Amino acid sequence: MQQALHRQFDFGVALSPIDICVVVPVLNERDNIAELIPRIGAALIGVEWEIMFVDDGSTDGTPELISQIAVQDRRIRLIRRFNRRGLSSAVIEGMLASTAPVVAVIDGDLQHDESLLPHFYRAIMEGGHDIATGTRYAEGGSTGDWTRSRLRISQAATRLATFLTGSKMSDPMSGLFAIRHDRLVELAPQLSGIGYKILLDIMSSAPTPLKLSEHPYVFRARQHGESKLDSMVVLHYLEMLIEKRVGRWVPIKFIKFGIVGALGLIVHMTILSLLLKLNLGFGFAQVTAVFSAMTFNFLLNNSFTYRDRRLKGLRIFGGLLSFYIICGLGAVANVGVGEWLFENSYRWWLAGLAGAAVGSVWNYAMGSIFTWRKAN
Ligand code: GDD
Ligand code: MN
Repeated sequence: MQQALHRQFDFGVALSPIDICVVVPVLNERDNIAELIPRIGAALIGVEWEIMFVDDGSTDGTPELISQIAVQDRRIRLIRRFNRRGLSSAVIEGMLASTAPVVAVIDGDLQHDESLLPHFYRAIMEGGHDIATGTRYAEGGSTGDWTRSRLRISQAATRLATFLTGSKMSDPMSGLFAIRHDRLVELAPQLSGIGYKILLDIMSSAPTPLKLSEHPYVFRARQHGESKLDSMVVLHYLEMLIEKRVGRWVPIKFIKFGIVGALGLIVHMTILSLLLKLNLGFGFAQVTAVFSAMTFNFLLNNSFTYRDRRLKGLRIFGGLLSFYIICGLGAVANVGVGEWLFENSYRWWLAGLAGAAVGSVWNYAMGSIFTWRKAN
C-alpha cells in the first residue's frame, strides 16, 4: 500500500519519511527550548524525527525563537494558536498535524526525560505496543524533589483516576508518552480535549484496551520559567473525569448547574437563618435570601458552568435579569408540579422532589437557551 502510493505520487525529490514526530506544547518556555532540541536530536540518533511545537500565544519570545531555528532546520515545526489555551487540545492538534507513524509528547521545560523517546519508538514499531508511557510511579521512576503537598495532590489525582476509569496505568497523569498515529486518529473524534490529562483521556476513550508499555523515569526540577498548573487545571481535570464517566447520559453543564444549585441552596439557608436571627420578619428574610441565592447562582454559573459563553460588561445585567425571570417561572413550575402530585396522593417527599427536578431542568434548559445563548 505504502509502495503503491509512492509510485503514484512521484514529486521528484525523495526525502526519507519521518519515523517519529515529537510534539512539544509550549507556553512561555523560551529559555528551555534551545536546549531541548539538541537533547531530543541526540536521543533520537538513527531515526528520522521532527519536532512539532504548539504555542498558545507565549509572550516571552518563544514562538519567535522557534521560528528562527525552524528556518535553518526543516525538522522543526511550529503551530501557533491564538486566543486558545489548553494543554490537551494543544497536544491533540500537534499530534494530528503530523503523519509520522509514531507521535510522542514531551514537556517543553526539560522536566521530562527525553532519553525515553527511542524506547517508546521501539516499543511501538518493534514491540507491537499501541502506546508507550513514561512513569514516575513504577520501579526505577520518581517524582524527583517535589514538595510533599504537590506529591500528595498528584497521588490523590492518580488514585481518583484509577478508581473512576479503572485504568491500569501506574502514572495516568504522565505528560510523557508516545502513541501509534493510526490509533490516535481513530480515537481523536472521541477525545474531550479539555484540561491537562491527555493520556488518561486517550486511554479511557479507547473502545478496546490499548496495548501499553511503561518506562520508568525521574521527573526533573524546572530550571527556567514557571509551572502553568493552577487551580483551574484541577477543576478541568475533575470535569474531564466526570465527563468520561457520565457525559454520555447527562450533559456536563447540567451537572455543573446542579452543583451550583446545591451551593445556592446553602447560600439561601445561611442568609435566611441570619436574617431571622436579626428579627427582620420571615417575608423580608426569605425574599432577600431568594435574590441572594439567585444572584450567587447566576455569577457562579456565568464563570463556571457557562465559562465558554461567559457574559461580560453590561451584558451581565441583562443576563441576570433574564435569569431572575427564568428562575421565577421555574419556581412556579416547581410548586405547580409538586402540588399537583401531592394532591393526587403521592408522598410529600416524592411530590417535593419531582417539583424540584422539573424546576431545575426548566432553569437549566431556559438558562442555556436565553441567558447563556450559544454564539453562532
Ligand atoms: N500550548 C500550550 N498551551 N502549552 C502549555 C499550556 C497551554 O495551555 N499549559 C502548559 N503548557 C506547556 C508548558 O509550557 C510545558 O512545556 C508543558 O506544557 C507542561 O506544563 P507545566 O506547567 O510545566 O506542567 P507541570 O510541570 O506543572 O506538570 C507536569 O506534571 C503533570 C503531572 O503531574 C507535566 O509533566 C504534565 O504534563 C503532567 O501531566
Ligand atoms: Mn513542568
